[in-house]
Amino acid sequence: MRILAVESSCDETAVAIVEDGRRVLIDCIASQVDLHRIYGGVVPEIASRKHIEAIYGLADQALQNTGLTRGDIDAVAVTYAPGLIGAVLVGVNFAKAAALAMNKPLIPVHHIRGHIAANYLAFPELKPPFLCLVVSGGHTLIVDVKDYTKMEILGTTLDDAAGECFDKVARVLGMPYPGGAALDKAAQSGDESKYSLPRSKPGVNPYDMSFSGLKTAALNLIHHAEQIGEELDIPSLCAAFSGAVSDTLIPKVIQAIKQTGYQQLAVAGGVAANSRIRGDLTKAAQQLGVKLYMPPLSLCGDNAAMIGAQGYYEYLAGNIADMNLNAYATKSILGETL
Ligand code: KG4
Ligand code: ZN
Repeated sequence: MRILAVESSCDETAVAIVEDGRRVLIDCIASQVDLHRIYGGVVPEIASRKHIEAIYGLADQALQNTGLTRGDIDAVAVTYAPGLIGAVLVGVNFAKAAALAMNKPLIPVHHIRGHIAANYLAFPELKPPFLCLVVSGGHTLIVDVKDYTKMEILGTTLDDAAGECFDKVARVLGMPYPGGAALDKAAQSGDESKYSLPRSKPGVNPYDMSFSGLKTAALNLIHHAEQIGEELDIPSLCAAFSGAVSDTLIPKVIQAIKQTGYQQLAVAGGVAANSRIRGDLTKAAQQLGVKLYMPPLSLCGDNAAMIGAQGYYEYLAGNIADMNLNAYATKSILGETL
């Protein structure tokens, strides 16, 4: 089954064609990152306009470059939640029009379920059940992936997402948006013991996390140094920050793996590209004796191939939308409107 997949929830317009949920025939992305950089973050209105400009051409390009015609497409999958509402709407409207014009099923896909499904593209042998750490710009979740479309959230951040904090700290350090990757790069030459940053342990649920205290502590440290004219060792601060984020995440992942008894651990989302987190997960998986799945960096960030992968399993589960499909800025990975 060939699925034309559409993703437009944030600042990447993307169209892919994916076969049977596992094989990427083409994955086209038009990134808007350079446009938003001058503002230090995504400007929603600009994002929506750029999605409108790019989406039709990308879909055309996907068909032309694969030599496929519209008749070769069996269904259309689209990110319908969560994201910047105007941006998600562009993808949903395009997908509805495409499905209607081609007379093919329309499959709604939750963006975070898509991130998890990036693992199915990278690792053909991976099948649920497994534990997945989801770390993106807007989400930080520990998910029990019981089946392709049956999931349970074991833990979540109670405030900021890990990616948001990376971006905020990087921005204050003068790094270009989105700062997570730049901060990660700077951290490589730092000495993390030079700065001490907190590791929060919030709430009643042992799997919940909090990052706002860590973010505030890092920002206070930077501003205080500015005020007293002290020169910051930026690589070391970046290393200490990455270390604090990873130290918040990894013990919870270890505990969750032990509780579920799963032998498979996956990671998903843009922040899954972080080298400290990847290194710590590798060590944790070795110690636990579980198989670790970490998608290549190209599949960690936003893309449409992951939407096509999850779309296939949503289709098999009967999750098909009609022309009333709406876009949602917020929706839980379990489908509940928040
Ligand atoms: O999953 P994603 O592409 O978009 C969302 O769904 O949010 O994640 C984007 C986030 C941004 O916050 C970006 O700074 C972060 O992923 N990111 C990183 C790294 N690469 C991307 N954060 C830390 N280290 C990295 N190497
Ligand atoms: Zn994403």
